[in-house]
Amino acid sequence: MSDRIDDLRSLLDRASYAYYALDSPVLTDAEYDVLYRELVELEQQHPERVVASSPTQRVGAPPLQLFAPVVHESPMLSIDNVFAIDDLNAWVDRLARLLDREPTLFGELKIDGLALSLRYEHGILLQAATRGDGRTGEDVTANIYAVDAIPKRIAHDAPLEVRGEIYLPRSAFQLLNQDPDLKVPFANPRNAAAGSLRQKNPRITASRGLAFFAYQLEEPIETETHHEALALLRSLGFAVEEHAALVEREQLAARIQELDQTRAQLDYDTDGVVIKLDRIEDRGRVGATSRAPRWSIAYKFAPEEQLTRLLAIEISVGKTGKITPFAELEPVVVAGSTVSRATLHNAEQIERKDVRVGDLVVVRKAGEIIPEVVGPVLGARVGELPRYQFPAYCPSCGTRLIRVLDEVDFHCPNRFCPEQLVQRLMHFGSRDAMDIDGLGEVRARQLIELGLVRIPSDLFSLEPHELGQLPGVGDKMIQRFMVGIATARQRPLHRILFGLAIDNVGAHVAQVVASSMGALDDLLTITVEALVALDGVGDTVARSVVHFRDDPYGSQVVAGLIDADVRGQRAPDLAPATSDQLMGLSFVITGSFPDGPREQIRDFIVEHGGRVIEAVSKRTDYLVAGERAGSKLAKAIELGIPVIDLPGLSAIVASRGQQTVI
Ligand code: IVH
Repeated sequence: MSDRIDDLRSLLDRASYAYYALDSPVLTDAEYDVLYRELVELEQQHPERVVASSPTQRVGAPPLQLFAPVVHESPMLSIDNVFAIDDLNAWVDRLARLLDREPTLFGELKIDGLALSLRYEHGILLQAATRGDGRTGEDVTANIYAVDAIPKRIAHDAPLEVRGEIYLPRSAFQLLNQDPDLKVPFANPRNAAAGSLRQKNPRITASRGLAFFAYQLEEPIETETHHEALALLRSLGFAVEEHAALVEREQLAARIQELDQTRAQLDYDTDGVVIKLDRIEDRGRVGATSRAPRWSIAYKFAPEEQLTRLLAIEISVGKTGKITPFAELEPVVVAGSTVSRATLHNAEQIERKDVRVGDLVVVRKAGEIIPEVVGPVLGARVGELPRYQFPAYCPSCGTRLIRVLDEVDFHCPNRFCPEQLVQRLMHFGSRDAMDIDGLGEVRARQLIELGLVRIPSDLFSLEPHELGQLPGVGDKMIQRFMVGIATARQRPLHRILFGLAIDNVGAHVAQVVASSMGALDDLLTITVEALVALDGVGDTVARSVVHFRDDPYGSQVVAGLIDADVRGQRAPDLAPATSDQLMGLSFVITGSFPDGPREQIRDFIVEHGGRVIEAVSKRTDYLVAGERAGSKLAKAIELGIPVIDLPGLSAIVASRGQQTVI
């Protein structure tokens, strides 16, 4: 057992040196916390083994000697952590007992940057210092003078010590990491902030865009409460984090949850909520330990970053042929869910970050975004790992990959690459495109692999018995899929255009292009000149559209869709014109019609002598189906009743009209 205590101490020492002094963590905060708590428990069981040098008895790591040491007048303490609401409530209970009443609480986001102490005298910034080990920090005054976000003069004559967090906004971090002059990208904004603060040349510090939130006034505090102190700091020109507010004990859990759910949108990293006693007098009454004050506590969020092992680097082929490298990882829980894959973005990033298979890597999941590999922990690399070689050939079709000048992504240039066909078929059937019920990844792969479908237009000639060949597809599924395809026939032109997966044509551009066309047929004759004349269509988009139309793949799909009468033409003008051309025919109308209300269609049929009935039966002649048609469409298909759309309806009127002429 004694060995475990020694092991934990040396592990925690090394980790905190790497974290504080080298800005290159070897443990995540969560891992550190787990080991730290284990050590606390062991020391409680063996009090005779507690020594002053134990990580539990001091704060952080000794400062590096790069900048002059500064002894803090009052130590810059740490904060005790809790990870559960119950523990937070227990903390409030304890304070309520100590104070003999319910305490007034104040809540603030815990900013993931570096603590900074700023001393002002006669309204002038005299000294800026980092926390260091809590007692002695580093003098960074020269560099702080280069940081615009920190006031150098304030309208306050009495001596004042302001403490707060210096951090690098996420946006500035992204920009910084794209800088080609940066030899090794920073793992996260916190390390980047630390690196930027510790520059020998203050001009470099100035260029990084550091920011600062004030969260603390040191004694003597002129206000009675913390919230008044923050208001004073604001009035003196300091930024105070906008979510800082008084909070009722009953609201604590809800408030924390709310902050956790919205913090991904902020431009700075946060790792918890700090709860503090609001009344300064109360703080004095509860006191502090050598490590942390009793008047504040940090509720820590589930971490967004973790360390794990990179097992392999694979590449995927997208619908436009774009190659995206991704990491296969030893599974790890990040922000509450298990991650075993993460994006590596592109070849350039792998090279710049020098990520190698076998590395310990930082994995990050911020908000809704797909998890990403931030970079390797270079200090933890053992021995020589081979540099990653980006593949030269497409893993799906074996075609040589190409990289267009000035672009970071590799592409597979083969439009008929099987993986691209699968991805494009999936995209064609996706919600914002043709919204084909039943066409997910599994089905798309099966259809392509069995050769039943090669390009999206093939879908419209699929027969039910062909679908029966797909593994695991029964009658019910066939039915659902046939209905899905029949319904998709009615989609408007902009959704067809979007579904084609033309380079640079997203949902919005597809709308603009579609609005200039009557039906898909017009794509055959459209010119670059006509396209660039449209609002919001530039040269790149126009060329992509025409290029797609003319290339062997695009021309086949467009011809196939026109052939299948999936042309997205607008509803015909259903101007009432009485005739008896639909005499003797009965129609059922189902689904919704974005281009004209159903009433209008009913009137049209009746005015031409037809009958409109409610239920589909063997005696129904036609089903007029709009978007999102459901059970009636299924029934019609089952009974073999022709399903028509609005152009189909007017075609019937026209053809029967011709018969009477003859
Ligand atoms: S109060 C002793 N408030 O968290 C209490 N600290 O792990 C004084 N931190 O060293 C600190 N946001 O660097 C406080 N709103 C906030 C904070 C905050 C981030 C940092 C600070 C501190 C560390 C403790």
